[in-house]
Amino acid sequence: MRLVARRRGPLGGEVAIPGDKSCSHRALILGAMAKGETRISGLLESDDVLATARAVAAFGAKVDRLEPNEWRVEGARWTSPVDPADCGNSGTAARLLIGAVAGMEGVSVTFTGDGSLSARPMRRVIAPLGRMGAWIEGDDRLPLTVHGARLGGIEHVNDPASAQVKSAILLAGLGTGAPVAVIEPVPSRDHSEIMLGQFGCEVSVQEGVVRLGKPRGLIGCNITIGADPSSAAFPLVAAVVVPGSEVAARGVIVNPLRTGLYETLEAMGADLSLSQERLQSGEIIADVRIRHSLLSPCQVNASQIPAMIDEIPALAVACAFADGESLIEGLAELRVKESDRLGAVVAGLIACGVAAVADGDCLRIFGRGAVRGGASVVTHGDHRIAMAFLTLGLAAEQPVEVDQAEMIATSFPGFIEVMRSVGADIQ
Ligand code: S3P
Repeated sequence: MRLVARRRGPLGGEVAIPGDKSCSHRALILGAMAKGETRISGLLESDDVLATARAVAAFGAKVDRLEPNEWRVEGARWTSPVDPADCGNSGTAARLLIGAVAGMEGVSVTFTGDGSLSARPMRRVIAPLGRMGAWIEGDDRLPLTVHGARLGGIEHVNDPASAQVKSAILLAGLGTGAPVAVIEPVPSRDHSEIMLGQFGCEVSVQEGVVRLGKPRGLIGCNITIGADPSSAAFPLVAAVVVPGSEVAARGVIVNPLRTGLYETLEAMGADLSLSQERLQSGEIIADVRIRHSLLSPCQVNASQIPAMIDEIPALAVACAFADGESLIEGLAELRVKESDRLGAVVAGLIACGVAAVADGDCLRIFGRGAVRGGASVVTHGDHRIAMAFLTLGLAAEQPVEVDQAEMIATSFPGFIEVMRSVGADIQ
């Protein structure tokens, strides 16, 4: 499916952003491992999360969709499923579930994924889990077969910062009484730590060391999931680049380990405000409002990247409309996302008439305040590349086409309707 985005009048109104993807995976997995019932409100019903729901059901949990975005999970002692666990396009599903199974004696399963996921590195989880005593057959790529075992402890240095690796270790550690610590030179998103606390397993964080507490038996609970800041990024960036726009999103997760984009946009001169900050299932959420603004270029260093790792394509769009040279450092991890995102962003920007270059792991974008557009952008089947360039097309002088839009459903089903609801022309 090809989509085309065109410039029209200003965007205005409130966007309904679906639940956070990271938290949705975690709620299903922890619910399936916990004793008793877990109720999840605001679950993201995207292809990635549904892959996790199917997997935990195949491990023996009872998973029911009560109504849209309202799910019930009855935890169970996991057993070996008959078929491989297909994680689709989702790195989070694969890496977290590999960790969870690694610590479960008697459970064996083969993990598979689509073409993109099967090309992504898995040694980053296999190596630390192996040091805990895990038995995993395979090398750096899916398919991999995990035979759950009684594990020992670990002290792992999480470099480069990866919340998926940290979470895999914490989930594996639930099956052992031994000390489990993850040292984070640069912190990664802490949704696993927060949600484990909700399920009765406190995780301490002191001076950059994350330690799994005790008891480690999880107890089912009620989780309400906030709106995904990584999805909100697209309509918010669209509003900042389309003249005359003002867009708001309610109940967005503003965990400081996720708000790098918002901070960077503010530093670029965006008129962005957060209000009604509140706690929901241990996470800080807020209402976010943004107005069209003239942007200056940004300077982002490597330590700022983990807090906006999924927002770089959206940030690149903002930089394309800024006046001057933006420099974003520390993007090596973008090479191993759903696509080579660094390469895809540069190629898409150049196709749209914006000078950009990937210089080692740095991205330089030479904004001129306006963007020509008038191109068909190759997404490489990457949902965030598709959404980013449709966003760019809403403010470019000429329409922008993306070659493949189906994958948007992996993270943001309803993206087109949500964008149209504030006046975007996407056909
Ligand atoms: C995620 C962590 C990040 C992020 C991904 C979701 C998570 O990946 O890019 O979309 O839910 O833990 P890394 O752990 O590879 O940084």
